[in-house]
Amino acid sequence: EGPLVKELKKNLSKSCRDLVEVHPGRLVVYIYHKDWYQRQLDFSVKKDDVWVITYPKSGTTWMQEMTWCVVMGIHHQQTSLPLMKRFPFFEWDSMIAPDFMDEKLCADDPCLPGNTWKIMANMSSPRTIKSHLQVPLLPKQMWEVKPKIIYVCRDPRDVCISYYFHYVKLNGYKKELSDFVEFFLADIMPFAPFWSHILDFWRRRDQENILFVRFEDMKEDLLSVVQKVADFLGKQLSAEEVIRIADHCSFGSMSKNKAVNNETLPAAENEKAKGLKFMRKGKVGDWKNHLTDTQIKAFKEWTFKHLEGSDFPYYQD
Ligand code: A3P
Repeated sequence: EGPLVKELKKNLSKSCRDLVEVHPGRLVVYIYHKDWYQRQLDFSVKKDDVWVITYPKSGTTWMQEMTWCVVMGIHHQQTSLPLMKRFPFFEWDSMIAPDFMDEKLCADDPCLPGNTWKIMANMSSPRTIKSHLQVPLLPKQMWEVKPKIIYVCRDPRDVCISYYFHYVKLNGYKKELSDFVEFFLADIMPFAPFWSHILDFWRRRDQENILFVRFEDMKEDLLSVVQKVADFLGKQLSAEEVIRIADHCSFGSMSKNKAVNNETLPAAENEKAKGLKFMRKGKVGDWKNHLTDTQIKAFKEWTFKHLEGSDFPYYQD
């Protein structure tokens, strides 16, 4: 364990520890700054905010783009602005990530830590905000003010594979998938633990201001999900608008859309990262091409252990 992580653990409160308990030397990418913890808890939430909350790699960007189009309209002229400007990443400023600092970033680039909260401060209502934070780490007002929250979950086996390639590509992770699977199942990941992340929202899924969606639902029937999101947000869309948003949010169209491809993040230089894209495959079940029988068994055991006593019905096959 590196001295930095030790120091962080010592200084951070217990509930925040999960967020920074990343494996030293391998997965230390985001370093959570203590002072921000309180600032985030105290953040002023607005009733008409629209939040998209997920465990990373669960289809966040996909749901953000869809939500933004539903809120603002598919014909809005700002559709081509980088998503991070239109839909800021709530905790981004609290993550000091020197590896991400690309010399090309300019002063107002939303990827530059310090800019996200500036963007949020200047946003007109309704604000659209992304977060990967666990329930106990989100602003306290969230549960009193009750803004609209769209939570997306995804099969953890696909999340793990997607997360692995994200690290290879964007964060220069050079180890093998086998190591990564171990960390994933040990919940040594930014924004872990996986199951508490999902289950905290699953328990709240019937609250009026919360919409719980699965990545797999989006894959199966995108039109229905667009309609569901519109109904949830109280937006009346014509059949044509629903179709246009679904088209705009198809994998093919999003893969080509620079505004949603995290293009400002520098790609890792290593061999493995070559050819990998943020919009990688966008499939359900890609884990079958990557996980060994032993890893699949380990996933199953981990899932059963965490779902004991819960009525969450998915991802147990
Ligand atoms: P894969 O790596 O499995 O391809 P997040 O935005 O939470 O980081 O999630 C990224 C994952 O969502 C990636 O998964 C990405 O390809 C997938 N994704 C993004 N847009 C998509 C779309 N329009 N259709 C299907 N999958 C999409």
